[in-house]
Amino acid sequence: KAAEKEGFEHFMLKEIYEQPKAVADTISPRIKDGNVVLDELEMTEEDIKKISRIQMVACGSAYHVCMCGKYILEQMAKIPVDVDLASEFRYRQPILGDNTLVIVISQSGETADSLAALREAKKLGHKVLAIVNVVGSSIAREADSVLYTWAGPEISVATTKAYSTQLAAIYLIALLFGRTREVINQEDYKKYVAELGRLPEKIQRILDEKERIQWLANKFSHAKDVFFIGRGLDYAISMEGSLKLKEISYIHSEAYAAGELKHGTISLIENGVLVIGVATQPELFEKEISNLVEVRSRGASVLGLTLYGNYAMEDIADFTIYVPKTEDYFTTSLAVIPLQLLAYYISVARGLDVDKPRNLAKSVTVE
Ligand code: G6P
Repeated sequence: KAAEKEGFEHFMLKEIYEQPKAVADTISPRIKDGNVVLDELEMTEEDIKKISRIQMVACGSAYHVCMCGKYILEQMAKIPVDVDLASEFRYRQPILGDNTLVIVISQSGETADSLAALREAKKLGHKVLAIVNVVGSSIAREADSVLYTWAGPEISVATTKAYSTQLAAIYLIALLFGRTREVINQEDYKKYVAELGRLPEKIQRILDEKERIQWLANKFSHAKDVFFIGRGLDYAISMEGSLKLKEISYIHSEAYAAGELKHGTISLIENGVLVIGVATQPELFEKEISNLVEVRSRGASVLGLTLYGNYAMEDIADFTIYVPKTEDYFTTSLAVIPLQLLAYYISVARGLDVDKPRNLAKSVTVE
């Protein structure tokens, strides 16, 4: 096993570093002559135009990809999207309208609740598209069509590269659906496709600056409570950042939609509490900053995460992490990288078993 780590101290760090390649491997075979081609969907143009709703279902980090997927698919393809945890979906007697496409996301393809949700959707007569990493897994076999993520084997319990490739799969679907349904114009489409090709290199740039995250991780390794806040896609990123941190560092952390803070959570903010403010969406930037002002004035330490150029973050944050600029829909692929590194280095600083956190399994095959 040590050899397979190829010199990295942990599988998680190795897998974090494999992300530029994993994302490129997932995207590039599906771009042909500047167009997104997803033959594996087995859907005609007519099929794509007929979709009236998308229901996304998953567990864990894959569920967080669904949360990103809601914002991305609704905005890029203009199709309404519902998202459910698989464990809820399977028992809530879901009512799905005609022409609802069900998308199940799973790294392992073996998660019991996700498989049961897939079966429930099929029983109700809906077509199921699975986004899966493990070839030939149960979910891949039972779905009507499969879009494989090409992340390669993931060993660390805390997912990193599978999550990133699932996001890439969502961008491809959103672009294909949006273009086919003629809600993305040709000019924007070309711009988005070109930017997809640049994501791996931008992820690499963040990895090349890891020392700063390591320094911040050492600073915050004794935190007791950490709150991640964001709006829109930044809220979805916050959920994944919070999960990464709590699962491998055992620090209590929660993700909140920033605008919801006032409805209860702000009472938990006091001196020394760390608030990580994710702010990559231009239209929501000012609102997020005012939420950060509110927590700061109640004693929180603020770590801001934003895009290069948004230097106004430094007026309010104690520390700021910058990631490269990209299309608004794709920022999640970049903003998640420092959050993975932060969780990783905090776990290392606390001397914990990074790859095998207590009580957790890589694949939850029982209910
Ligand atoms: C476990 C893993 C998570 C994963 C979740 C769903 O909890 O630790 O990393 O996101 O299961 O797994 P799946 O294989 O369905 O993506």
